[in-house]
Amino acid sequence: MAKNSIKLGVVGLGNIALQHINNILNEHVQNAKLTATCSRAANACSKEFGVEHFNDYKLLIDSGKIDAVVIATPSMTHFEIAKYALQNNIHVMLEKPIGLSSYEGEVLLDCQNANTKFGLMLNQRTDPTFVKMKQIVESGALGKIQRTQWTMTNWFRPEIYFQVSDWRATWKGEGGGLLVNQAIHNLDVFQWICGMPSQVRAFCEFGKYHDIEVEDEVTAYFRYSNGATGSFVGSTGEAPGVNRFDIIGDKGSLYFNAGNLTLIENNQSSTQFNKQTDDMFGMPETKTTELSGSRVVNQHAVIMNNFIRSILDNEPLIANAEDGLCSLDIANAMLMSTWQNNDITMPINRGKYQQLLNKKIAESKLRDKSSREAKIDMSASYR
Ligand SMILES: NC(=O)c1ccc[n+]([C@@H]2O[C@H](COP(=O)([O-])OP(=O)(O)OC[C@H]3O[C@@H](n4cnc5c(N)ncnc54)[C@H](O)[C@@H]3O)[C@@H](O)[C@H]2O)c1
Repeated sequence: MAKNSIKLGVVGLGNIALQHINNILNEHVQNAKLTATCSRAANACSKEFGVEHFNDYKLLIDSGKIDAVVIATPSMTHFEIAKYALQNNIHVMLEKPIGLSSYEGEVLLDCQNANTKFGLMLNQRTDPTFVKMKQIVESGALGKIQRTQWTMTNWFRPEIYFQVSDWRATWKGEGGGLLVNQAIHNLDVFQWICGMPSQVRAFCEFGKYHDIEVEDEVTAYFRYSNGATGSFVGSTGEAPGVNRFDIIGDKGSLYFNAGNLTLIENNQSSTQFNKQTDDMFGMPETKTTELSGSRVVNQHAVIMNNFIRSILDNEPLIANAEDGLCSLDIANAMLMSTWQNNDITMPINRGKYQQLLNKKIAESKLRDKSSREAKIDMSASYR
């Protein structure tokens, strides 16, 4: 008999796991039931949820109580937990990033079999404005893409965000900082809409604004195979920072600024106009349309609903795990470019990057957590 509901286990009971659990318990996720939880320690919350709690993920996965697992644990544990679940035919929804590196992610993908769904929580793909930008680029309305730029510096994080965690912003705990934690969302949407760069040059700053060993600021330059250029600037040290994403083509441009989207269409492509006009200071005529709409959507619930439908009805995943390699490849290339002080030709040599990362991990250790109590408003964490 065909199933009509999925038994879900959640591993991790931290910030984001509680958000996923709330979505399931409040029926923002259809055809799914929370049947078990797991975290490193016995956790009082699980009693509130009225489901069995495990403190070893292997026991949860072997329990027979779940069809699928949401893995919302520190990034350094993603690989081992997802691997065990996939090898035991449990469907996996893994928090981003897919692993500490795209090398790790690639190994993980090999553990998936044809009957198991493996999705990634790349929730910003559900933002209606980014969906609209993708449709416009794919429609060809912008013509030949000439230049892209994303400046995402409103990921401000104060020192306490790092101090209360043993794993955040350590090479060992997450294989990086800004790029693999916060900006991974932007790098994912960036390449989802504009494609992968063919060359990356980057300058990362390590511990510039915080007492951390990993990057908290980056300025990067891209080249694409069609000759287009791009740039990405990110920071967790700027307040309030900006979120500006521009895509410029020869027939039109898209300007995203803090949620507002403007489309400018040229009446003639700048490539043609450039060759044909007699007007020394001329420019194509343009039409400007404001396309801003509501960005309010429960992004995590949209991804979860799609995951459940992919299991029940074979719906294509909004972000399958393989997609998660792309953003991590770019983040890894930015770090490698900085360490080696050179350009990285894409696709990145994942094995070589892993060797470099291993050296950083060997010298890294998890932080002693501060006893300070952090105030947490998760809604303020999304940008
Ligand atoms: N998609 C998003 O919007 C989003 C937002 C925040 C965090 N994240 C990602 O989610 C993950 C978790 O982040 P967080 O801020 O919730 O972390 P957190 O430190 O608040 O919570 C981590 C939880 O995992 C548990 N845990 C640690 N190791 C474990 C293990 N081996 N087995 C079982 N449980 C274990 C801890 O007990 C804790 O409950 C990270 O990878 C992060 O990048 C995603």
